[in-house]
Amino acid sequence: MSAPGPRSSLVDLALPHVRDLHAYTPGIQPAGEGWTKLNTNENPYPPSPKVEAAIRAEAGEGLRKYPDPKSTALRMAVARHHGLRPENVCIGNGSDDILNLLTRLFGGGEKAVGFSVPGYSLYPVLAAIQNGKPVTLDFDRSMKLDVEAAAALPASVLFFTTPNAPTGVGFANADIERLLQKFGGLVVADEAYADFAEENAVSLLEKYPNLCVTRTFSKSHGLAGLRVGYALGSAELIDLLDRVRDSYNVNRVSQAGALAALEDQPYFQAVVGKIKRTRDECAEQFRARGWFTYPSAANFFFTEPRDGKGRSGPEVAQGLYEFLLKNKVLVRYFPSHVLTRNFLRISVGSDAEMLTLSQIIDLWQKTG
Ligand SMILES: Cc1ncc(COP(=O)(O)O)c(C=O)c1O
Repeated sequence: MSAPGPRSSLVDLALPHVRDLHAYTPGIQPAGEGWTKLNTNENPYPPSPKVEAAIRAEAGEGLRKYPDPKSTALRMAVARHHGLRPENVCIGNGSDDILNLLTRLFGGGEKAVGFSVPGYSLYPVLAAIQNGKPVTLDFDRSMKLDVEAAAALPASVLFFTTPNAPTGVGFANADIERLLQKFGGLVVADEAYADFAEENAVSLLEKYPNLCVTRTFSKSHGLAGLRVGYALGSAELIDLLDRVRDSYNVNRVSQAGALAALEDQPYFQAVVGKIKRTRDECAEQFRARGWFTYPSAANFFFTEPRDGKGRSGPEVAQGLYEFLLKNKVLVRYFPSHVLTRNFLRISVGSDAEMLTLSQIIDLWQKTG
């Protein structure tokens, strides 16, 4: 028997494009008590009490069995909720799972992946995992959707967030419709925050088979820990998604919990209404400080801080980020892009959390 040859490092054995890959960096999830957590756009309120009851009911003996591979009950409920058919719905392990599946379907090799910049920073990571050529839809400070530029992108799929992240700016259906008429690939409207907006693209699905709308239970339903999201699209698209997803991609507990949340519409409406009121009050307070703040149709703001001397800029934004962190208030800072580095993204918390934030900002402005 011949001696085994020198062993290659695992990195050398991996696909070449994986060697240069950088994992997505999620917002900090701090350990311990006492944090005001306004960095990952979670819901400050708990999910419907009916969710806990549904999870408890699911958590017993039945866990020895695999979940329903098609999440049938949840698919049907989601379809009903949006006035669609179950064939138009695919449930995912968070909407990140759906975004990943869409990239797996349409990106890689010759198939370029388009995404908005600034935008959700997972899109380029997913494209890189697929070794898909990235093609960017670049915004300017107005944050308006340039339909002509978007439609001209040489990509098989185009991801953009509406309302947008990190700005909170919503895009009009009229613009999305013009894009759908002109773009040659699949348009993915990532509507993670659409429950906080006045408009959404669901009504366009009937007319445009090249549209996919993605949604999540993580934000408006307060279920980030459960990991449930979904895609809405043509039966043809949903069939493609079903071909490439894990057969048991959503566990039993998550299916049951998400269904209970969706069915408790009065609770959902009350929570969303409360968050929108807090958002609108706080946006006014930031503007009253003289801080430019994009109009938000989401559950966060994108605001350009000014220090006690009225200065703004990257050092000021970073300085406030660090001051807040020292005082156990977490927000998000994106220093790497010229359109984001003067700003902070701040999630809408409870009224008490927003008061804490405001008091620490007052302190920073006095001492800075
Ligand atoms: C724009 C956008 N899309 C998708 C997601 C992911 O949501 P989920 O928790 O459903 O994976 C997020 C999470 O922050 C997001 O900001």
